[in-house]
This record gives sequence, structure tokens and C-alpha cells, in this order.
Amino acid sequence: MSRIGVFGAGYVGLVTGACFADLGHDVTVRDVVPEKIDALERGEVPIYEPGLGELLERSAPRLRFTLDVHDAVEGADFLYVCVGTPPTYSGDADLSAVWTVIDELQGSVSGSGALVVMKSTVPVGTGEKVRAALDARGLEGVGYVSNPEFTAEGTAVRDFMYPDRIVVGSFDEADGDAVAALHEGIDAPVVRMDVPSAEMVKLASNAFLMTRISFINEIANVCEATGADVVKVAEAVGLDHRLGPHFLRAGIGYGGSCFPKDSLALKQLAANSGYHFQLLNAVIEVNELQKRRVIAKLEKHLGKLRGRRVALLGLAFKPHTDDMREAPSLVLASRLIAEGAEVRCWDPVADASGLLSGVVRCATPLEAAEGADAVVVVTEWPELADLDLAALRAAMRTPLLVDGRNFLDPDAAQAAGLVYEGIGRASQSSFAALPETPETAASDLRR
Ligand code: UGA
Repeated sequence: MSRIGVFGAGYVGLVTGACFADLGHDVTVRDVVPEKIDALERGEVPIYEPGLGELLERSAPRLRFTLDVHDAVEGADFLYVCVGTPPTYSGDADLSAVWTVIDELQGSVSGSGALVVMKSTVPVGTGEKVRAALDARGLEGVGYVSNPEFTAEGTAVRDFMYPDRIVVGSFDEADGDAVAALHEGIDAPVVRMDVPSAEMVKLASNAFLMTRISFINEIANVCEATGADVVKVAEAVGLDHRLGPHFLRAGIGYGGSCFPKDSLALKQLAANSGYHFQLLNAVIEVNELQKRRVIAKLEKHLGKLRGRRVALLGLAFKPHTDDMREAPSLVLASRLIAEGAEVRCWDPVADASGLLSGVVRCATPLEAAEGADAVVVVTEWPELADLDLAALRAAMRTPLLVDGRNFLDPDAAQAAGLVYEGIGRASQSSFAALPETPETAASDLRR
């Protein structure tokens, strides 16, 4: 069994550390945030990730947490870099945390034997720069391998333990062998390659997934204009074995800590290399527009939104996570507030209080829907599948349901007296008579 130092106790670092410890390795996770390390030492999990708490508990005898870089490096065979690479103002990936780790290693790593393994998502060419930096500092004996992560939030533990593939990019054959062997116990093909190609696999995979989403969202928009139903279309398209069913769910756009930043990073990487990545630019633009389409749907039924009460069900960028990074709900809520609407929201785990000022947080979906002129399903939390639609209708002032994830059954919603409006599906004609709020009446006079 090997000794592994993991740098970064975020989603990627914690999952990587816990999973390797579960495979029997001896792992030390190092982070620079004292509160995070304190919490982990007390047995608390600082992020919401299903299965991670149990895994950390189970692997506790082989898992340590530290603030001290030396603790993580001491005797380690592998040094996994799992720090964040957020976008800079220019859209390029910010590699400052990566370089800080590399700088710190310089003072601690003994010289030979240890392997630096890059798990953070980095631009193509980063490995070559790190290799050159290590060499320049007399650390030629320290190996470098790219081993990108393909775990999705909410299913990260499962994705790590049962991956579709393990990608290993190395400068040196033996270094690649060592990282491949480290994954013993995981049943998946190991794809070996050079470092730049491994870096590109990660960016290309995410870009392709985003392309599928923006593609189906555009098909959805054309479905709306032509009377087709995108849910049926995607089902049948996905049954073609050459296309497959994944990432064909139309909705209000992708968000999260990865897709938006990785698409920008790849776009800038291409541009910095003199190439205009036209398709990726379109994918990004379609996604931005998609987040705003809900506003038009609300206005179609309600007219001006000033004074209207709108309930957002779900805030996180997807279910089974509390992550609010680049969540479509943020764009939606701020656009609604800008239009003068009153916004109420519910989410079972995401706490957006610091992000969404002026939005009323509610304990249940029905509380959020109280007196609402419209309810919008923003995140397809499983709890919403059991929503009592008759009670929802009864709680609302105007019975408009915009299903931003095509998650609820349109027939059941209509049977409960709701006007159902999905994404890329035939919508019902609007209400016969719409109740006015004193605010809408007054604002209409003002305009
Ligand atoms: C994504 C990738 O799926 C992982 O493979 C990758 O490792 C990770 O990024 C990363 O780079 O670290 P994640 O962002 O956690 O994982 O979540 P996804 O499940 O991919 O969903 C991303 C967004 O796409 C969500 O907002 C989701 O609602 C949206 N989506 C997904 C759709 O709108 N339609 C779909 O059909 C699928």
C-alpha cells in the first residue's frame, strides 16, 4: 500500500483522499483553511456529498488531516494536487493555488521517489510548465503525472470507485505505471497517454457534455416554436446507440463549479493559441440565454412581473449538492428582483442566504408557494416528485407552474388545476382572467 499526500480538502481532494484511504492506502489531506481541517478532525464533513461522511468515517484509521505541508509530504509516494482552478477575469484558469502547492513542495520534498499527480483541472500545457519548474529547482527525481478527475458532484464517491475510465498521462512510463497501480481495486480501463493529451481529455469531455446540453436546449426551443415535445424527442434520439441517452435533458441551462469555468478556460486556451473555438462559444451563449428564458415564460402568462410573487423550488445547480456556484437560480432570482417581482425560495440543502439578498427563504415548497403567482421548478430535487400538486394549487394565488427541468408530470399538474409550462413542450393556453396585484395595477399606471 502507498502513502499519499492530498493537497486541497475541497470536493475533489476529500473524495480522492477518502476513496484512496478506502482502497487501503495511507492518506494525509492538507488544506490551508484551519476551520476546515478542525471540522474534519472532529469528524464533520464540510461539504454536502452523499456517501462521503460514511466513507470518511470508515477510512478514518488510514486518513489524517493537516495544515502542515511537511506532514503531507513526509514519506509520501504520491502528492495529489486537488486545489481549485477558478476562472480569472480573462476567463483563463487561475493556477495560483496550483503554483503555491508546487512552490511549497520545493521546500519539503526530499528529491526522489515522490510523484506529483495533477487532479485539478488545468489548461493543456500546465504539466510541461510544472515539469520545467521542478527541473529548474533541482527536483528532476520528482515525477509528474496527469490523472484528471471525472467525478460529478452528488455522485462523486460512486464515480471515483466505479469510473468509466482512469486517464493517466505521464512523461515517464514508470511514473504512469505507478499511478495506474495505485488504482488497483477499481475495475475500469486505464487509458495511458502523454501529459498534454490527458489534460485535454478532461476539457474535451466536459465541453462535449455541455455541447449535448446546449444542443438539446436549442432543440427544446425549436420544439416550443413548432409544437413538438423535447422529452419524447430526447428519449428517441437517445435510443440510437451511436448517440446514447446521457446529457439530453433539456432545462434552464447548466451551472456548477466545473462546466461554466471549464468552458471558459477551454475557450481562452484555444484563443490564446490563436484558434477561435466557434462551437464552444455557441454552447456558452446558448446556455446564458437558456437561463433567462424562464422570465419570458412567466411574462407570457403574467404580463409584467412587478409585484408578482414567484416561488423558486430548488436553488442548487443540480440535486444532491449544496453547491450554488454558477447555479441558474442565481441568474433567475436576480432577474426577477430586477423586474420588481417578490421572490420566495426553497431548497433542502443549499443555503443561498449570502448570495440571494431580498429573497425569502422558506422551509417547505408549499410555504414558498403561499400566495404565489407562479412556481418555478429550478432544481429537480427528488422531494419535488412527491409534491402534493392539489395542495400546491390551493396555496397559490395564480396557478402557474413553470417546470424548468421537465420534472413533473404535465397531466397531473393540469389535473390539479395548474397551468403547466415546461421546457420544449407544448404549453397550455393562459388563464382566462388573471388576478391583479395592487402593485401591478399601480405600476401599469406608472409605465
Ligand atoms: C461535471 C461532469 O459531469 C463531471 O464528469 C466532471 O468531473 C465535473 O463536471 C468536473 O469537471 O469536476 P458536475 O458539474 O458535478 O460534473 O455536474 P453534472 O451532473 O455534469 O451537471 C452539470 C450541470 O448540467 C447541472 O447544472 C445539470 O443540471 C446540467 N445538466 C446535466 C442538464 O441541464 N441536462 C443534462 O442532461 C445533464
